[in-house]
Amino acid sequence: MRAMKRWGSIVLWCVSALLIAGLAAETPPEYAAVFTRDAVAADHAEASRVGAEVLAAGGNAADAAAATMLALGVVNPASSGLGGGGFALYYCAKDGSLTFLDFRERAPRAATRTMFEAEGERPEGPASSPSQLGGLAAGVPGEPAGIEALVTRFGKLSLREVIAPALRLAEEGFTVSGALASMGSAFEVQLRKDPVMTTWGLQPGTTLRRPRLARVLRAFAEKGAAVIYGGVIGQEMVTAVQKHGGIMTLQDLYGYRVRTREPLETQAFGYRWVTAPPPSAGGFTMIQSLSILEHAVGPKPADGAPLLHAMAESWKGPFLDRQRYFGDPDQVILPLDEMMAPSRIAKRAELAADGKAHPSSDYDLPVERTRSQVTTPDNAGTSHLCVVDAEGNVASVTTTVNLPFGARFTGGGIVLNDEMDDFASGIGKANAFGLVGGARNLPGPWKRPVSTMSPTIVLQNGKPALCVGASGGSRIVTATQQVAMNVLLHGMNASEAVAAPRIHHQGTPEALRVESVAPLDSALQDALRARGHQIEPIHNVANVQVIQIERSPQRLLRAASDPRKGGRPAGH
Ligand code: GLY
Repeated sequence: MRAMKRWGSIVLWCVSALLIAGLAAETPPEYAAVFTRDAVAADHAEASRVGAEVLAAGGNAADAAAATMLALGVVNPASSGLGGGGFALYYCAKDGSLTFLDFRERAPRAATRTMFEAEGERPEGPASSPSQLGGLAAGVPGEPAGIEALVTRFGKLSLREVIAPALRLAEEGFTVSGALASMGSAFEVQLRKDPVMTTWGLQPGTTLRRPRLARVLRAFAEKGAAVIYGGVIGQEMVTAVQKHGGIMTLQDLYGYRVRTREPLETQAFGYRWVTAPPPSAGGFTMIQSLSILEHAVGPKPADGAPLLHAMAESWKGPFLDRQRYFGDPDQVILPLDEMMAPSRIAKRAELAADGKAHPSSDYDLPVERTRSQVTTPDNAGTSHLCVVDAEGNVASVTTTVNLPFGARFTGGGIVLNDEMDDFASGIGKANAFGLVGGARNLPGPWKRPVSTMSPTIVLQNGKPALCVGASGGSRIVTATQQVAMNVLLHGMNASEAVAAPRIHHQGTPEALRVESVAPLDSALQDALRARGHQIEPIHNVANVQVIQIERSPQRLLRAASDPRKGGRPAGH
């Protein structure tokens, strides 16, 4: 078992800011808890508490997930908020249905394929290019519409009841966390340029009130999401975007629509894995990796170097597919069936099983029928949270403003996202997460950029066994998959599973990343090197939230918030 090892270190840039120091294995982990009735795992203790409060008030998993999202947007504006977007996967216990809500940001109507062409490579690190910082970086936010859809379609409470706790936090204030303070200091120079963010201070332990956001939340509670997609608030957002050189208009805001999509799923290792469809490439990466792995290592693989090696190999092919084939499914036809063809899986599995690290190009298998035409549009920082309620409903939600504090300006008190960086600036160019983009993911009018966000629910015998997902750019999917495998295949409980060291490979660059915050055992690293992997340390591989649902001998909900980011679950 890759048990939890040394923890140390601090924040880098990105969504994974945190303070982890000396978590010894015998210390009861503060980042985990066991409940019998309901549970919420978010990457901020206050947000989990809000979700649990809404459950106690008679809300279900949809209400609690929406309230938790709203609270996250207040207490951690570096990661998510009303100016961003996300995905929600919802399991309804009554009929066993699984619904995927896509409330990802989309490009303004005036977006063009060449709008970021002049950018060179976008180096990993603090944002500085027009797709990352300023008005052009901002996509049309989907979060308000997504929250409303979640509550009105699946919830039991009114929007007003669901918004109330976040409104209270914004009005009365909350304690600035160490993670937010670290992010604030990393981006201080940029935040100081915004009239709202410059007032925040962001010293750990101090109280922060957000009156401008409170005004928006009050209006949202009274009049619904339309109040943000128009009127005074919409106009303030558009004015701010345009002042910062952007092209978003009120028409873009009015025109925003949530999409309901069929989730992706596969059967692997005795479980039904249900996850995000395009425009996420993350869910696809996971289901292809799992299919390859099952071929390569058999149905009951032991944890250890052979599995880690095969896992690293299994990600190379789907990340190449992402580069070549992925784009907004409303504008590009994706050859999903062809990409998942058994012959392709078998070829990739054969390579993954031969014990040698292959260059990514070995996994390059163009599909036979590409159908690459682009169709006409039909008018069309990150946080993860999991909720399980007493009725057995499950919500797995990933929400984001992309890089920390998004485009680093506010409009109407709302932090605008920089999701436009998830488009390719040009064919073969990489984004902030080193993800190389292809033609299908060039920007275009009202197009959604390809994502890695992978909210996931895993079922066994028709019932949810695990709710899991992560924040952390391209590493979201590899982290989510590893934590799920730790629980389902390696017998770890939720807290052990999130704490265990993780690896990451995304094909480009040809490097197997290991965490410095949770170092992989050195003998395992040597064993991977011996197979030909170039090992490269990075600070951490994403931040995972998980709830494990045990049914026998009694119902137990084991919830854990990744100690890499400092959240804490709540529930009853
Ligand atoms: N902005 C991160 C993602 O969608 O993958």
